[in-house]
Amino acid sequence: MKKILMVYATREGQTEKITYHISERLRKNGAETEVLNARDIDQHQQLELASFDLLVFGASMHAGGIEKELLHFLKKQAATIAPMPRCLFLVLLSAALEDETERNTALADASHKLRKQLPLTFDHIEMIGGALMYSKYPLPLRWMMKRIALKAGQGTDTKKDYEYTDWAQVDAFADTLLEKSSASVALDEA
Ligand SMILES: Cc1cc2nc3c(=O)[nH]c(=O)nc-3n(C[C@H](O)[C@H](O)[C@H](O)COP(=O)(O)O)c2cc1C
Repeated sequence: MKKILMVYATREGQTEKITYHISERLRKNGAETEVLNARDIDQHQQLELASFDLLVFGASMHAGGIEKELLHFLKKQAATIAPMPRCLFLVLLSAALEDETERNTALADASHKLRKQLPLTFDHIEMIGGALMYSKYPLPLRWMMKRIALKAGQGTDTKKDYEYTDWAQVDAFADTLLEKSSASVALDEA
């Protein structure tokens, strides 16, 4: 059975939701998964990264930056992670822009910013649409996000939350992860 470690960092909860959805699909397809919030990772002294067939990292983007807790973990463990198969997914609203040209431009910009922050390269990086969680934003931020959403053609009713995650894309990404973990087992057994 393939063993997959998922480490995520989230601010408003969407990356966590996506992480558990992926984990569930991987488990249904026969993998063993362990899911950890990067915030709590220092409590897992026994964590043996090298015992996993694949490492999967997830984080969201805020003002062009990815969650500090995940960056901290990646930097701390870079030497152990470097020889291992690893993938990353980034959760952000730019991935959900309706206009294809605008979306591609915004994603190219996000990808550039992401790569500048990451201490390692990844075998695969997936950009996944996030959510507008007005219910979780304090007041000045709620107004700011409404203005940004209006420009982007996204939801502006601040009494509601809007989810833009493409779950079919998430499922396809989970299936790619399973293939990658199988490939790594096959290499080990060769
Ligand atoms: C203050 C703030 C800044 C954000 N900055 C960006 C950004 O730079 N690019 C982007 O595409 N999305 C941005 N977003 C959207 C978030 O990435 C999106 O809401 C995501 O679902 C958050 O995931 P999380 O709940 O796991 O933290 C921002 C959201 C907030 C509230």
